[in-house]
Amino acid sequence: MKRFLAGFSATGGYLLAIAIACAHGDGAPQPVDTTGLPELGEEWRTQNPYRGNDLAIKIGASGYNSNCARCHGLEVKSGGLAPDLRYLEEDADGDAWFLNRIRRGAHVNGVTKMPKFEGLLSQEAMWAIRAYIDSRPED
Ligand code: HEC
Repeated sequence: MKRFLAGFSATGGYLLAIAIACAHGDGAPQPVDTTGLPELGEEWRTQNPYRGNDLAIKIGASGYNSNCARCHGLEVKSGGLAPDLRYLEEDADGDAWFLNRIRRGAHVNGVTKMPKFEGLLSQEAMWAIRAYIDSRPED
């Protein structure tokens, strides 16, 4: 699957995103295996401890594709359903904003626009996903 994804064109990727959306149509969160990354413990970090870490980027790519792509777009290219995360600030402010959203989700006027991931994804998985998002070019 991963090798298949890597060679995909932009248009094909979009179609695949739809296929993924159907495959995970129930929205069940997918576990992310963070074996090999330094463990972070209980305390929440304020900045991404894995910025630029190649293993984190690889783990984050699969974590992103199975949990976030159905709304935020395959390879982090938004199709318009949700904000394009490639344009998040790649600094401490961006890290804080990211962590707040992924932990709590987004709720507007009582409607859940994005589910919360705290309790479903580990802190390690969250920062790995952030490392992957940061690695995507803004083209
Ligand atoms: C069900 C669809 C959905 C899923 C799944 C989802 N999101 Fe979101 N996300 C949204 C929407 C919609 C918004 C915009 C909410 C608003 O109106 O403020 C958003 C906002 C965000 C923001 C803030 C962006 C900004 O520019 O302010 C971040 C960061 C984010 N999501 C990260 C993630 C990550 C990481 C995942 C996967 C772990 C994820 N989201 C999964 C729908 C989703």
